[in-house]
Amino acid sequence: MSMQAARRNYSLAGPESKQAIEDGRANGDWFLPFVDQTVMSELTARSNGRAAVDVLLWLALLVGSGLWAFVAWGSWWSVPAFAIYGALYGGAADARWHECGHGTAFRNQRANDVVYYFASFAMFREPTVWRWSHVRHHSDTIVVGRDPEIVFPRPPSFGLLIPNIVNLVGGPALLMRMARHALGKVGRQVADYVPASESRKVVWEARAFLGVHSAVAIWSLLAWSILPLLYVTLATFYGVWLAVFFGITQHAGLREDVLDHRLNTRTVYMNPLFRFLYLNMNYHVEHHMFPSVPYRNLPALHTAIKNQLLPPKPSTLAAYREIIFALRKQRANPLFDLPLPELPSPSQPSRRANAMSNDGVVAWGADTARSTAGPRAVAEQGVDLGAEGDLSLGELRRVEVNDRTLLMCRPEPDLIVLTDGLCTHGNAHLADGLLDGCFVECPKHNGRFDVRTGEPVRRPAQVPLRRHTISVVDGRLIGRITDVTD
Ligand code: FES
Repeated sequence: MSMQAARRNYSLAGPESKQAIEDGRANGDWFLPFVDQTVMSELTARSNGRAAVDVLLWLALLVGSGLWAFVAWGSWWSVPAFAIYGALYGGAADARWHECGHGTAFRNQRANDVVYYFASFAMFREPTVWRWSHVRHHSDTIVVGRDPEIVFPRPPSFGLLIPNIVNLVGGPALLMRMARHALGKVGRQVADYVPASESRKVVWEARAFLGVHSAVAIWSLLAWSILPLLYVTLATFYGVWLAVFFGITQHAGLREDVLDHRLNTRTVYMNPLFRFLYLNMNYHVEHHMFPSVPYRNLPALHTAIKNQLLPPKPSTLAAYREIIFALRKQRANPLFDLPLPELPSPSQPSRRANAMSNDGVVAWGADTARSTAGPRAVAEQGVDLGAEGDLSLGELRRVEVNDRTLLMCRPEPDLIVLTDGLCTHGNAHLADGLLDGCFVECPKHNGRFDVRTGEPVRRPAQVPLRRHTISVVDGRLIGRITDVTD
């Protein structure tokens, strides 16, 4: 096969995109390992403390190196000072952007958003555009024509890699796209994954970010000093190398178009300094499989499931050896893949395997109640969903009634709620997610709903969950599928 014939179309609006949808590779059912429910509940638990310490330490290092650079300005000491400042600003910001974008760093969602916007600015990433881009990346990881975040389209170009270490291609491209958005022009590629309802936000965010960059440039001009630009806009150029260094280890050289993160994503053992800068994203297979697990718990998740994964790369160096080998081969032959390893089987069926099983019985993460009474009977007389005392505080329970999946939960001692059980954003069972107070978080993309009202409170969820009536009769939970609209 000629190189031309092997070259694929990575455009999100191209024929490969349509093909991926037709073949079921788009938004597909990914392999998930088995994890004990109790263990998963502990791993997904949220807190503010660790993220606060990590973010404050990052900011302190940023301010400290920035002050050092300022004091040392005019001497050679300003070079290492700015090098550290830039790596923290335009490099380590990437991991903060990522974790807070998922909403998993802090329990407090406002804190996630504040850090997310700051880190987005530092990385030249428009917050709404990249939030949706990353949702797509998780749905369709390295699926050609679907994933907007594929770093090395095949055949890989090393010519672009060198300038991109200092953002010479990616940086101007991101700023140009921001400028187009500021003018109200959202292109087809972005429109493919950002809903039209978010377009105004995209435009205003672009205007705000460009406004700040313009103000810094004017300040530099008026002061006739490059310093303001060195601290802000230029820091994203000379500091991004650290994000590139870590980011390449995630998927480079691995398989395209597979629905198993063990084959297209890489976990790498890294030293504690790297893990702080990268916020444990070296456990990348684990993160892709369970994005609801906060970064601080990824090492524990790794321990829990490593016997169902491929062995991780023992070091960053080992990861780069594999990457360079694979990319060089793929440059000569874009169809080249690393040898297919033998994949360990899960010790027990995964959650999704259970969810897809023929008899519809779901075991992971929830006790399951089922009813086959007719729809009318269910609406009028209700269906018995079990003893009230069996539903514990904080529990999420999946319920199947007439082929309809519902979610029953008890967010407060005196509050029991029955809603639709599938996330309105995509094909995910909310019972496999997390109940944080009165908010249920989807396990697939971290969208959130207020179970009291059904309202979506966190992107990418946008459509409310339907609520149904549930009451306690003689100690039994009686559900009625009658949409509650108050
Ligand atoms: Fe995307 Fe639920 S499937 S947030």
